[in-house]
Amino acid sequence: MDKNTIVGIIGSGAMGSGIAQVAANAGHKVVVYDSNRAALDKAQKSLAATLQKLQEKGKLASAEEVMGRFSFAESVEEFAGCGLIIEAIVERLDVKQSVFAAVEKAVGEDCVLASNTSSLSITSIAAACQHPSRVLGLHFFNPAPLMALVEVIPAIQTNSELIPGAKKLMEQWGKTAVIAKDTPGFIVNRVARPFYGEALRIYEEGMADMATIDWAMTEIGGFKMGPFTLMDYIGHDVNYVVTDTVFQSFFYDPRYKPAFAQKRLLEAGWLGRKSGRGFYNYVEGAAMPQPTKDEVLGTQICERVLAMLINEAAEALYLNIASAADLETAMTRGVNYPKGLLAWCDEWGADKCLEMLDGLYNEYHEDRYRASVLLRKQARGNKKFV
Ligand SMILES: NC(=O)c1ccc[n+]([C@@H]2O[C@H](COP(=O)([O-])OP(=O)(O)OC[C@H]3O[C@@H](n4cnc5c(N)ncnc54)[C@H](O)[C@@H]3O)[C@@H](O)[C@H]2O)c1
Repeated sequence: MDKNTIVGIIGSGAMGSGIAQVAANAGHKVVVYDSNRAALDKAQKSLAATLQKLQEKGKLASAEEVMGRFSFAESVEEFAGCGLIIEAIVERLDVKQSVFAAVEKAVGEDCVLASNTSSLSITSIAAACQHPSRVLGLHFFNPAPLMALVEVIPAIQTNSELIPGAKKLMEQWGKTAVIAKDTPGFIVNRVARPFYGEALRIYEEGMADMATIDWAMTEIGGFKMGPFTLMDYIGHDVNYVVTDTVFQSFFYDPRYKPAFAQKRLLEAGWLGRKSGRGFYNYVEGAAMPQPTKDEVLGTQICERVLAMLINEAAEALYLNIASAADLETAMTRGVNYPKGLLAWCDEWGADKCLEMLDGLYNEYHEDRYRASVLLRKQARGNKKFV
């Protein structure tokens, strides 16, 4: 795969059109296909408008030139000349499997097939193909043109020789690529779960209100957005569903258990910013709750969430989900954490982190708070991660 590779995109929604823009911007001819003609027309119009805006801002030499690299296809047969296909359609395994099987018939033998799935197993998508060794995951973040990270995910069937080329191509597209094992949530959507989950737990217990938790995580923790503001921003239809899928995919491991406080919002249709109401009320003139700026409480909140995040990163490293370097890159570039979680652990000392987790475990007697064996080993040996 190189600059001359024609890239096919399946699905012209939020992710598909964003990825198409990234590929065209990197110089590729791009064929975009969507089963919904209206969605395809909408994507064509919005891509043209976005490129025009970038040109006006001086960020793009010629919108027309980049737009000229696109073609919008009515059927998968138009993928015939493609060397790489990236699928970004509805998050349903049965639909993805049938689309992969159909696309495989339309492309040449050397064409690489990638899925942008957030939560499905790449292995199960690959299993629907005649040549599963050419299937892998390329997980972009939303919005794809702005977010730096791409997780490259080999399925168990993937020809390992494809991976360095895929990583290199993503880097040529201006992305930072990390390699993740094909396990639920890959790196970011797995390791970040406690940022939401533990914040929700603290809120449900009544230890603090959401404004105070958000204040603690931003002001004391240095995160760009607090968990409740961020969940409202992502939308509960996306964030809750990812949590629930990860929970189920991990055979109901209590570490990933969803919270009723968020489920009820979803049931009420209070999806967050986009629907005008989520944890917060975004209707004009509505009063925003104010935090209790208590440093002692804020530090307790922040350290509890951080200990859970660090534990998740340590466990991911222990289970070889990714290298330590890729784990750090994924969390700092993919979700803009102020520091890599392993480096944060080194700064605290693994013993402090372990003490916090063991304290929670002893208090609650819940498996949710079990410390990673790796963290225990690090603390015992007084070792650093990075
Ligand atoms: N939205 C995110 O934040 C995000 C981030 C990373 C990954 N993802 C993943 O990317 C994928 C797409 O998400 P999205 O947010 O862009 O969805 P979306 O709903 O915005 O777009 C999906 C598009 O796929 C089209 N489509 C549906 N079934 C199709 C089929 N059988 N053949 C061709 N086109 C079909 C729809 O018409 C729609 O235009 C999902 O797998 C999702 O998990 C989403």
